[in-house]
Amino acid sequence: MSNCGPEAPEARRRPADGQRTLSLGERIRYARLTMLTYRKATAKERDAFLVLLREKTGGYLEPTLRVMGMTWDEFADMVRTVGEVRAILRTRTVVGFAWIERRDRTLHVHGVALEPPFRGQGIGTAVFRDLEEEFRASVDGIELGVHDSNPRARALYERLGFHVETALPDVGFSVLRKPISAPRA
Ligand SMILES: CC(C)(COP(=O)(O)OP(=O)(O)OC[C@H]1O[C@@H](n2cnc3c(N)ncnc32)[C@H](O)[C@@H]1OP(=O)(O)O)[C@@H](O)C(=O)NCCC(=O)NCCS
Repeated sequence: MSNCGPEAPEARRRPADGQRTLSLGERIRYARLTMLTYRKATAKERDAFLVLLREKTGGYLEPTLRVMGMTWDEFADMVRTVGEVRAILRTRTVVGFAWIERRDRTLHVHGVALEPPFRGQGIGTAVFRDLEEEFRASVDGIELGVHDSNPRARALYERLGFHVETALPDVGFSVLRKPISAPRA
């Protein structure tokens, strides 16, 4: 499944890369490309998120679920009932989904998945930036799980300041955490 939208190759150059300084025009364009809005996903969109997750994680999600004693249908049910799945919109286009759950003072990010045409443009980074802003005052940290077979996603999370909290080598999975603190008064 795939929404389609224009690729924006110039947006791939993230300002943080330090390769060169972006011009004002490029910075404005970058800001626009990473200006996102969120809303609760519809039931149909939640199913679309499941398809994305299954496509991306087909190689490991099902064995991991087996270790957890969970069937795919039970997992799908969890996506529908646990926490909140948000649609991520850039202008009016749904570019992907974020599944989050607040657990006491921790925000657990169960998964973020973007439609393929929108990956690598800074949107994932912006989603985490926005989550941090939104939850800064109400949680002490953000937590997520990443599988060893997804080194690119892991590299992104580490760049964003996440560190391994628990490694589960048996299932090739690590829980990463980023502490966040409330804004100073
Ligand atoms: C992981 C993901 C949410 C990151 O969002 P993004 O907008 O693509 O990321 P950004 O543009 O902000 O940052 C780029 C970095 O993201 C990571 N990334 C980019 N494309 C990726 C992909 N297809 N799969 C995994 N990670 C990817 C890389 O670390 C990349 O840096 P690099 O280009 O130097 O390798 C997004 O790529 C995605 O949906 N991937 C497929 C689903 C997935 O793997 N989700 C995570 C596990 S549930």
